Amino acid sequence: MLFDFETLPPQDRYKLVVSSVVPRPIAWVVTQDAQGVTNAAPYSFFNAFSSDPVVVGIGCGARAPGALKDTCANIKETGEFVVCLVPEQAIHQMNATAVDFEHGVDEIAEAGLTRLPSAKVKPPRIAESPVALECVTFQLVPAGEHTIVLGRVVAVHIQDDCVLDQAKCYVDTPKLNLVGRMHGRGWYARTTDRIEVPRLTVAEWEARKAAE
Ligand SMILES: Cc1cc2nc3c(=O)[nH]c(=O)nc-3n(C[C@H](O)[C@H](O)[C@H](O)COP(=O)(O)O)c2cc1C
Repeated sequence: MLFDFETLPPQDRYKLVVSSVVPRPIAWVVTQDAQGVTNAAPYSFFNAFSSDPVVVGIGCGARAPGALKDTCANIKETGEFVVCLVPEQAIHQMNATAVDFEHGVDEIAEAGLTRLPSAKVKPPRIAESPVALECVTFQLVPAGEHTIVLGRVVAVHIQDDCVLDQAKCYVDTPKLNLVGRMHGRGWYARTTDRIEVPRLTVAEWEARKAAE
């Protein structure tokens, strides 16, 4: 079935994209305003786009037409943020930080979360998250009512017991137990059901074809 995004209203395009581009990793974004008031909120228009530099992107919608969400306003003000990734153990606390609180409410305190200091940026990280990416603004790209925040990652914290070999930078990814966002407002996916598909060389591909 074809859906023409040039003619569909925005809410229908939203429904189609969030129910088909799944699962999406969730950026649990911690920021501070110029006064140092901390803010945290989840964003699933999120991914990593490059490795040198490491650039991650977050799609921040509007709080109301023409009004920025606190995350985006704070990033515009300070140029710094921390992206924490969400493990299943913290899914309800993550959900609590998505409540539409007034500006100035510290969602980390509100959700009973623990803050840890960051190394290179001012916003803290969330202790209940096993991965925290410290970011500085790389570029802000306007996209209609959204702002696509691109961040350059300047440091990453990975929970000690999830690092297999520090020198080789091997991570025990299954142990992170991260969740992704699925369709609708309240559906998530675990990352416990995995399949391994080894990459093929041209020679291996040709050998497979010849064997068929
Ligand atoms: C799992 C999840 C993912 C979300 N993803 C986004 C997103 O990608 N973009 C967005 O604008 N809002 C997203 N939201 C809604 C924001 O988290 C919500 O509007 C929040 O109140 C924004 O907080 P802030 O004003 O403190 O930044 C998401 C909510 C949840 C629960």
